[in-house]
Amino acid sequence: MCGIVGYVGPRQSQDVLISGLSRLEYRGYDSAGIAVIDADGGLGLRKRAGKLQVLRDDLAARPLADGTTGIGHTRWATHGGPTDGNAHPHLADDDKLAVIHNGIIENFAELKDELLSEGFTFRSETDTEVAAVLLGREYRRTGDLVAAFRAVAPRLEGAFTLLATHQDQPGLVVGARRNSPLVIGLGEGENFLGSDVAAFVEYTRNALAIGQDQIVAITPDAVTVTDFAGEPVEVEPFEVTWDAAAAEKGGWSSFMAKEVSEEPEAVANTLRGRIRDGEVVIPELDGLDELFTGISRIIVIACGTAAYAGQVGKYAIEQWTRIPVDVELAHEFRYRDPVIGPDTLVVSISQSGETMDTLMAVKYARERGAKTLSVCNTQGATIPRESDAIVYTHAGPEVAVASTKAFVAQITALYLMGLHIGRVRGAVSAAVAAEHVRELEAVPAKIQRILDNEQPRIEQFAHWMADTRSVLFLGRHVGYPIALEGALKLKELAYIHAEGFAAGELKHGPIALIEPGQPVFVVVPSPRQSAEMHKKVISSIEEIRARGARVIAIAEEGDAAVLPKADEVLRIPLAGPFFEPLLAVVPLHIFAMGLATAKGLDVDQPRNLAKSVTVE
Ligand code: F6R
Repeated sequence: MCGIVGYVGPRQSQDVLISGLSRLEYRGYDSAGIAVIDADGGLGLRKRAGKLQVLRDDLAARPLADGTTGIGHTRWATHGGPTDGNAHPHLADDDKLAVIHNGIIENFAELKDELLSEGFTFRSETDTEVAAVLLGREYRRTGDLVAAFRAVAPRLEGAFTLLATHQDQPGLVVGARRNSPLVIGLGEGENFLGSDVAAFVEYTRNALAIGQDQIVAITPDAVTVTDFAGEPVEVEPFEVTWDAAAAEKGGWSSFMAKEVSEEPEAVANTLRGRIRDGEVVIPELDGLDELFTGISRIIVIACGTAAYAGQVGKYAIEQWTRIPVDVELAHEFRYRDPVIGPDTLVVSISQSGETMDTLMAVKYARERGAKTLSVCNTQGATIPRESDAIVYTHAGPEVAVASTKAFVAQITALYLMGLHIGRVRGAVSAAVAAEHVRELEAVPAKIQRILDNEQPRIEQFAHWMADTRSVLFLGRHVGYPIALEGALKLKELAYIHAEGFAAGELKHGPIALIEPGQPVFVVVPSPRQSAEMHKKVISSIEEIRARGARVIAIAEEGDAAVLPKADEVLRIPLAGPFFEPLLAVVPLHIFAMGLATAKGLDVDQPRNLAKSVTVE
């Protein structure tokens, strides 16, 4: 939530800031602003409610003076509505200091009272302005912006990344972070700060990840990182593995359309380099066998779509490792005093690697002695840095707010991890593992076939259903989380009522929702994998059809039994046990995107949402 960018160097900082913000806009898009120290040593500010384009148009109509130091922000409102006044940057120290912030300062009310009692005044309803005024007060005392951060940052509770620039200190941007993301981009004679590498990948792929409770100062030629006490700290360099083009639409109508088209590649890239002679070899887990040998349970924690990936993964991981697996929403996990300890492996799943609920749950698990492994798509992100082990998904940058290609990559990574743990523990034979690996390797081509064969029909179909007010989704076993994912995508993109149910649960209540014409998507399990489950789901279809439901079945090619039972059948290629979800989800992603598009909605930036949820 909220995108942050800072720049010092020879370029016109406005260009760098706006291009960085355009790549970070997915993090929040209700207002945006920049502050630039101009060549005459003045501080120019422009901030506007609305999407980044409003700011761009304003700057085109009323340009700010040029300058080569600046900070920029795109906002997802927490304290105070999305207005020009609440947009960042916020000014302090007689408007000479500009500050931007991502996160929530939980003790801002007390701090504000303190400042009010000293006679300071405020122009916004934000918690950020409190930090700005505190920094301004400290700067006045010492004339040292880094020292001001050292004095203020430890006093702030909650989550924050703060960046500031002062007109008396051109060529300097200072930042601090606690529980919110911040990375450094290293250029030649220029340096960058960003919420993630997308902020600067156009200019450099050399990056440094900043740890918790650290302060960073960048000038064109130097980067200094210390802890809050001012002690120098080591920072971890990494190279961004994708280039700027990967985070562009590249001719697609939306990022989501591009990212759905990249689902085959997301699976293939997550497998790449991790299979040798039919065995799973995960270089990141080399030498970490002890994480898996002494455990007696696995708890998967995640939110939203990532949690559904975890629910899919549970079936296979349990089967292949013979370790019980529970899946929990990260925000529920730590509030119920869970029974965990050194025998527990807590596997977190997060595309962004910054989801605050998941991060807090990981920290909680670690504090209680559990082992932690992060499945993550973002290099340099906080959650993997807080975990004992990492298995990266290699889906590439996901820009559309709704997660699609990351979901299939997450399931792929979980399967690789499950096979690895199964082999380490001797719970799965080499031959069986090799069979599953072959299935995994066949997935990208099968997803591609769905995109080639079914996408136009599903889009047409979504178009016809543009006025639908409610859609239900049913699934069983691994199809159940896919039903949940189908419903979530439709809610968040098309703003219509959608619910997913376990097919067996229907008769325990939800069937009352069925009335004539009610559209119901049903994920039909393969009859080859389980004749019994297939029969049961066909019976569920019969029950809802008898009550007038309009059934859209997602069924494997050649499943003839489903044809007379459904109004529409969307076909997916044959796949082995556990691999159907990687295919069945694709028509549901296409459908949600198609229906939202038919309604004229912005599929990349759905209302009220942001991609990276860095507040609890
Ligand atoms: C839904 C969606 C969200 C995310 C969730 C977790 O389409 O994108 O439900 O899956 O907010 O985000 P990450 O994976 O970044 O932790």
